[in-house]
Amino acid sequence: MRTNSSDGSPKLEFLKSITPQSSESEVEHKIIVPLLQWLGYGSADWRSQVSFGNSKLDFLVYPEEFKLHCPPFLVIEVKAPNKSINQNGWQINRYMRKVGAMLGLLTNGSSFQLLCRHQDQIVTIADYSTTELVKDSRLFRSLLCKSTCLKVCNAILHNQQRINQKFLTLVAEAFDNQSIHCLFKERHLEQHASILQEESNVIQRRKEAMIITVFNNKGGVGKTTLTINLAASLAKLGKRVLLIDIDAQANLTTGLGIDPLNDVELARKKDITHLLIDPRIKLEDVIYTKRWSQNDLQLDIIPSHIRLSRMESDLTRMVDSDRVLVKKLKNHSYDFIFIDPPPSFGKVNSISLMASNGILVPTQLSSYPIRALEYVLTQAQDVGAYKDDPLPILGVAISMYDQRSNSFNLSMLEKLKDILEKTDGGKQVNIFPEKTWIPRLNIVSQCPEKGYPIQEAEFDDHLSTQEREAAQKALERYDHLAAHLIDSI
Ligand SMILES: Nc1ncnc2c1ncn2[C@@H]1O[C@H](COP(=O)(O)OP(=O)(O)OP(=O)(O)O)[C@@H](O)[C@H]1O
Ligand SMILES: [Mg+2]
Repeated sequence: MRTNSSDGSPKLEFLKSITPQSSESEVEHKIIVPLLQWLGYGSADWRSQVSFGNSKLDFLVYPEEFKLHCPPFLVIEVKAPNKSINQNGWQINRYMRKVGAMLGLLTNGSSFQLLCRHQDQIVTIADYSTTELVKDSRLFRSLLCKSTCLKVCNAILHNQQRINQKFLTLVAEAFDNQSIHCLFKERHLEQHASILQEESNVIQRRKEAMIITVFNNKGGVGKTTLTINLAASLAKLGKRVLLIDIDAQANLTTGLGIDPLNDVELARKKDITHLLIDPRIKLEDVIYTKRWSQNDLQLDIIPSHIRLSRMESDLTRMVDSDRVLVKKLKNHSYDFIFIDPPPSFGKVNSISLMASNGILVPTQLSSYPIRALEYVLTQAQDVGAYKDDPLPILGVAISMYDQRSNSFNLSMLEKLKDILEKTDGGKQVNIFPEKTWIPRLNIVSQCPEKGYPIQEAEFDDHLSTQEREAAQKALERYDHLAAHLIDSI
């Protein structure tokens, strides 16, 4: 069992696993690899022994999703414990300048030097001994951890998109200029113009918020669980996410550790029923912010309450009731809003779909949930026909698959493709790839009881090493799903 250090973060016990006689490679394996894990990085986020001219960089931290857009976040240079790091700074300075890394960490396993790059200047930020780090690692951790890295990369990406957009506007204006027209042959112009149009459409679409109903009328296929953990993965990518629980079961609410009675009703807070029924209630009046400090994770949620089940008839009587949520979601600053409806197809489902501009369909790889997809597609089309904007199905996400039944999974996958092929509007629907599939894992089903998303499991001292490893596996899948969802919009 892990214990916490005085600053509340998990103890860095592994820092004590080397001796002055240890080799450089031992420092890499016993200190750096666990350190990266402790900072929240998965194995896909870093490379070791990266060839660089005639030499090799010991570690390059480079989250997969930003590889093409941002410089590496962190370079780590490792020395053997019997070498002083003060005499070896030139090498990491050179690497940081060459690869454009923002941060550097130079260590011999017992001394840790943090560096940062400003243009061509490398500045030492702090020096830590093992004892100092074990005693208080808060600043060290919050600077180097994955969530800081993703926030920085996201900011760079946004900035690049802004510059790109400005540049495209200038170029588009320039194309209307007669003297520039002459520089291009007609054919080239057309080609360039359509590429520009496509680029700016992509930017435009990315700027729009996605309001997604996680929809499958089959009960218990993992809608709520997927919604919570996917939202947390997106939040870790720096996206602003709101979750709306529109199911009277309030599973999403309780799954995030909010008790509808104590934390909402008795605390005189508002819930989804107020938002739907009372025209004076605005979106910001019903949002509950849930924070997990260990993980620097935050999710906004509109909680639900059992009384929603008694409101269905009131909702039905309301004028233009299907559009009640559309109106309330007009002004907000979220990148993603996920709506978690109940399984049956009642009033709140049509309210959710009407308010959405995309549908995400979770399913298990088994017969009944797959058959239910026919109905899901039909409903999506029916509601879509009443809407001003399109209501695309962003993809089918596989949940709770059995890792031991490969041939069964493949046969179910074929069946799923078959149903999509045969159903109206199903041909264009994308099934998210295998690396996004969420296996059936005990640790995933335990999270609602603990009231946290799977992202928080690594900080839970009550979990065994196996449970934490399983959580890491699930987490990687949700992260991939988040990346694919972003790509699909
Ligand atoms: N990947 C998983 N591994 C193991 N258990 C899971 C997984 N995903 C979900 N579960 C469990 O399956 C059950 C149903 O999941 P969930 O509540 O998310 O489904 P749902 O589709 O939202 O259900 P409902 O239709 O009632 O709203 C829950 O007990 C949940 O903990
Ligand atoms: Mg549910």
